[in-house]
Amino acid sequence: MSVSFTRKLKDQKQKGEKIVMLTAYDYLTARLIDESGVDLILVGDSLGHLFSGYKTTLPVTIDEMIYHTKAVTRGVTKAAVVADMPFMSYHISIESAKQNAGRLMQEAGAHAVKIEINSATYPVAPALIQIGIPVIAHLGLTPQSVYQLGGYREQAKTEKEVEQLTNLAIKLEKDGCFAILLEQVPSEIAKVIAESISIPVIGIGAGPHCDGQVLVTHDVVGLTPDRVPQFVKQYDTLGTRFKSAVQAFSKDVKTGHFPK
Ligand code: KIV
Repeated sequence: MSVSFTRKLKDQKQKGEKIVMLTAYDYLTARLIDESGVDLILVGDSLGHLFSGYKTTLPVTIDEMIYHTKAVTRGVTKAAVVADMPFMSYHISIESAKQNAGRLMQEAGAHAVKIEINSATYPVAPALIQIGIPVIAHLGLTPQSVYQLGGYREQAKTEKEVEQLTNLAIKLEKDGCFAILLEQVPSEIAKVIAESISIPVIGIGAGPHCDGQVLVTHDVVGLTPDRVPQFVKQYDTLGTRFKSAVQAFSKDVKTGHFPK
C-alpha cells in the first residue's frame, strides 16, 4: 500500500479514473481481492450480516471489527484497507471515538476508517482527522440508523434533503475527509454531489456518475444466500458452485470413490 493513497485517489478523480472498492472480512478473501487489483478494501460492518448472521449491523462491536481488520490486513499488500467503525464506537464521545479509531489503526493495521454521518456524528470526522486518521464519510443510506430511517431504502428524496446532503458533503471535504461513500441516493443527486466537491465520491446504489463504486464482495461473486439489492451486478454464482463441490465430495465419500 502506498502511503500517499489519499492523494492518489484525489488524482484519480481529477483524471476521471474510476475508483474500485470491495469488502473483505477475512485473510483469504482479502488476499484474493488484493491480488486481483482494487484501490480500496473495506472491512465493512456488513460482516455482521455475512460473517456473523446478524439481521442488522447494529450488534457488531469494535472488538469484532479489530479481529476482522487484523485478518484482512494480513492478506493485503497493495490496496489501502478501510475499517468501518461499528455502531456505538464513535457515538458516545469524541474521546472514545479517537480511542476506537486508534485501535483500528494501531492494533489492526487499518489505513483509514469509515464513519456513518448524521447530525450527531459529523463532529467525529474532523476530530479523527486532526490526530492523523484518514476518514471516509458514509452518507445517504446509513445502515446503522436503519430503524430510524425505516428500512434500507433510497435517501435524499426531497429538495431539502438533497440540499442538506450536498452541504454536508461540502463541509466534510473542508473538514479533511479524503472521500465520501454515498449509499442509495438517486443518480442525479449523486452527480450533483460529486461535481460539488474535489474529493472522490464512491457510490453504492448511487448510479454511474460517482467517482468510484463499492459493492459487497459476497454479492458480486454470488455467495450471498439471500436476495441482494437491485443495484448489485452479480458476476458469478460461487454459492451454487460451492454447494455442488461439497455435494460431489459427499457423494464420493459415501459411494467409496474418495479416497482411492
Ligand atoms: O459495511 C459495508 O460493507 C458498507 C458497504 C455496504 C458500503 O458500508
